[in-house]
Amino acid sequence: MNSKVPVAVLISGRGSNLQALIEACRDPEFPAEIVKVISNEPDALGIVRAEAEGIPTVVVSHKGRSRDVFEEILLAHLSDVSFVCLAGFMRVLSPTFLAAFPERILNVHPALLPAFPGLHAQRQALQAGVTQTGCTVHIVDSGVDTGPILCQGSLAIHTDETEDQLSERIRKLEHVLLPMSLRWLAEGRVFIEGHRAQVVLRDGEKRWWVETD
Ligand code: GRF
Repeated sequence: MNSKVPVAVLISGRGSNLQALIEACRDPEFPAEIVKVISNEPDALGIVRAEAEGIPTVVVSHKGRSRDVFEEILLAHLSDVSFVCLAGFMRVLSPTFLAAFPERILNVHPALLPAFPGLHAQRQALQAGVTQTGCTVHIVDSGVDTGPILCQGSLAIHTDETEDQLSERIRKLEHVLLPMSLRWLAEGRVFIEGHRAQVVLRDGEKRWWVETD
């Protein structure tokens, strides 16, 4: 009997976070299973990654469709899932879509929110001259990168680091934090109180993963 919680992953591109989720789900003890990968971009590398694993994939282009119609199609493909992970999914979801998965949609963002929401967060951090940045996994609400925070990973920005180099190092944090957060959610250990997420941690488990290189 499969007691894993069914999850869909929404992507738009490279899918390295999807790959991290796929690898986490291989562990028989991991509480979730990816039952579907949906991309709004037909050429997303993540689609290839999912197909290589035998995970059902769907491409739903946002182009030439209203957001309502786009989301209706997405929702029709999500009728059999309990949670949704946004892993580099580059569309903003409407309150109608969110209402179908209340407090059950995760997103990973490449900055220490609430700093640098929106696009090009790594570039924003470099341009601002901050010395620390990182990534955030949060529950999706109707704002852009504003939902309750589950965990964050931080790193020190290197001197003369390029946007690509920084993005690559941030991804390494994301690949740990996103599966960890999905585990918490699938195990029913996340409780939203107001705008804050409380996570019931096990003995020795860390909520904050701090990288110091
Ligand atoms: C990640 O940096 C994530 O934080 C952002 O989009 C990027 C997706 O990368 N939301 P990938 O497609 O998972 O490699």
